[in-house]
Amino acid sequence: MSAEIEVNIEDIKEANLKDIPEICRGCVYWEFPEDFEKKKDDRQKKWELEAKKREWFQQTIKEFGTCGKIVYHNGSPIAYAQYAPSERLPSIKEYESKPVGKLEEAVVFLSCLFIVDESMRGRGIGKLLLQNIIEDLRRRGFRAIETFASRSDVENPSGPVAFYIRNGFHIKDKTNPEFPLMRFYL
Ligand SMILES: CC(C)(COP(=O)(O)OP(=O)(O)OC[C@H]1O[C@@H](n2cnc3c(N)ncnc32)[C@H](O)[C@@H]1OP(=O)(O)O)[C@@H](O)C(=O)NCCC(=O)NCCS
Repeated sequence: MSAEIEVNIEDIKEANLKDIPEICRGCVYWEFPEDFEKKKDDRQKKWELEAKKREWFQQTIKEFGTCGKIVYHNGSPIAYAQYAPSERLPSIKEYESKPVGKLEEAVVFLSCLFIVDESMRGRGIGKLLLQNIIEDLRRRGFRAIETFASRSDVENPSGPVAFYIRNGFHIKDKTNPEFPLMRFYL
């Protein structure tokens, strides 16, 4: 499968942590909710958040293996994805929903799927990135992937329900009407 334009999808690892797109590099919304709140009124510095995010990746890679991807076009990062055991993403608890799958059930949570460069959206890159993650998790023997998708136009970390339905997901739980829990069996 290919997108309309030529892209390269790389696992996030020590050597390319610096290539995480700037808007995502210091965003700790999923990993450290309290620090994310502090950032809003500048009680937490950008470099501190970036360091925390780097440590989160280092630790998650050590415990779980690959947990993120960067998409490059002409050598520049244009998109980012993050996925991990739900236990590593405490903000999941903030969503009113039936429980998300756990690592012991071989379920992984897709926290972010983001084509940062707007001019690159709608050209098949999101689909390609999602397929790449699905293949990675399938190869590693996981059973399912889940995400909270957005029902309306509200921007959320992983994108809209319609995108996931187009890509074979189903709605697992609608307790949260705005952000239903979507699942895909690998
Ligand atoms: C949602 C997103 C990941 C989708 O990636 P994309 O590269 O634009 O989507 P693709 O071109 O791969 O589309 C794949 C399929 O999903 C459909 N699709 C994509 N975006 C859609 C949308 N917003 N609504 C409905 N369908 C959509 C496409 O029509 C396509 O269908 P097809 O397979 O029948 O052709 C991307 O648009 C994005 O990052 N949006 C911004 C989300 C955001 O703001 N996040 C905040 C992060 S903090």
